[in-house]
Amino acid sequence: MRRYHVTTFGCQMNAHDSERIKGMLEELGLGEAPSPDDADVVVFNTCTIREKPDTKFAAYMGDAAARKRERPDLVIAVGGCYAEAQRERLFSMYPSVDVAFGPGTIPHLAEWLGAGGFGVARGAWGTAEERTFAAGLPQHRQRSFQAWVQISMGCNSVCSYCIVPAVRGREVSRRPGDVLAEISQLAAQGVREVTLLGQNVNSYGRDLQTSFAELLRAVDAVAGVDRIRFTSPHPKDFRRDVIEAMGECASVCEHAHLPLQSGSTRILKAMRRTYSRERYVELATAMRAAIPDLALSTDVIVGFPGESEDDFRETLEVVAEVGFDSAFTFVYSPRQGTEAAAMPDQIDEEVKRDRIERLVEVVQRGAAERNASRVGLVEEVLVEGPSRTDPSLLRGRTRRNTTVNFTGSAEPGELVDVLIERATSTTLAGAAVRELQAASAARS
Ligand code: SAH
Ligand code: SF4
Ligand code: F3S
Repeated sequence: MRRYHVTTFGCQMNAHDSERIKGMLEELGLGEAPSPDDADVVVFNTCTIREKPDTKFAAYMGDAAARKRERPDLVIAVGGCYAEAQRERLFSMYPSVDVAFGPGTIPHLAEWLGAGGFGVARGAWGTAEERTFAAGLPQHRQRSFQAWVQISMGCNSVCSYCIVPAVRGREVSRRPGDVLAEISQLAAQGVREVTLLGQNVNSYGRDLQTSFAELLRAVDAVAGVDRIRFTSPHPKDFRRDVIEAMGECASVCEHAHLPLQSGSTRILKAMRRTYSRERYVELATAMRAAIPDLALSTDVIVGFPGESEDDFRETLEVVAEVGFDSAFTFVYSPRQGTEAAAMPDQIDEEVKRDRIERLVEVVQRGAAERNASRVGLVEEVLVEGPSRTDPSLLRGRTRRNTTVNFTGSAEPGELVDVLIERATSTTLAGAAVRELQAASAARS
């Protein structure tokens, strides 16, 4: 049997696209190889959000090209955002690439691979103009009880640092009926947690005369789904109706990812985020008031062009004031063709390094405090498997999306009540209540 291997870079959208890529390759009769070394077809699903994934891909491509020199019939396919961004140059930069395709063109992959015969047309290209939802394709999911569901593609925002709109195109919402049909089918297959995916999930539906709030309520009504998550929302689209739906829908988890990017109104303006420092803080406060026990996570960029020490201090202040449960912190990385890459006053690498270190410290302090406040509480945990650090423990996530390592016995996919006993800035630790009760019953 011929075998494939897919390497995925980037965000959950790409991880989800890779499930579809795998599903398609399996439909063509290929099996999954444990590593690229054992594969006849290697696929790279690339990312280009910052420079780092670009360089990582270059290293992987170096290995793949070396393998192809030994085995000339090896097929190398490159998809995703970097492929799209470099579509003019990809084949000359990497002559060993056989097939390249942009995001949203996965349904065509089979044709480009020669419909299973692998009479691969070198230099075959999928174009972004024919973007479609990958849903409806077969998919190979990593876990039977969790699923990603794409609700929109592309992004209509114009954040000045961001390459995504250029590579993923304009925003298109998927029909609510299609989303709900997919979720009902997933629920029937035993899926308990769904994560709704889009570059800007909460602007969903404007092109279809519906709204994200309406969609949340409809998904909540699907029987069998215990947990609904969504990512990523944009603060500008977190309207009253979405907050109310989050508060009222039992299955919608008490967690929101609310990308801050900067705490300085001046920098936010240059980033074209369309909210101010004050507006953001008000929103976070209103959300916490409306949704009891809400966890907030965020994304922050340091070293955006023109960011002064005072601007950066404002970011530190907002991060400390809001108190995030977790945060992804990034050093600004100029992306070719974006507005910010051409701005004057690019910040020195050394200054960026210093700022990210200081930011991480404030983030960790806040997250450690927030996690510590969970000690003594009982949290509902969706079991994912054995702990990554200690296989005698189980691992899962709370509704608030914090990882918990705990003692007890349960199967992946089970919902278990866990008494939280300890906390770090990133994880909680505890014991399953069921086992604690059994132990105390045995003692008395
Ligand atoms: N659509 C999502 C995800 C965008 S990419 C959203 O809007 O939230 C995820 C994060 O990467 C962004 O939130 C931003 O913090 C970061 N990012 C994007 N472009 C970047 C760049 N050029 N340099 C550094 N970080 C960047
Ligand atoms: Fe990029 Fe902004 Fe769109 Fe997010 S909302 S994908 S940061 S342009
Ligand atoms: Fe990367 Fe594309 Fe996602 S650039 S972060 S894979 S949308």
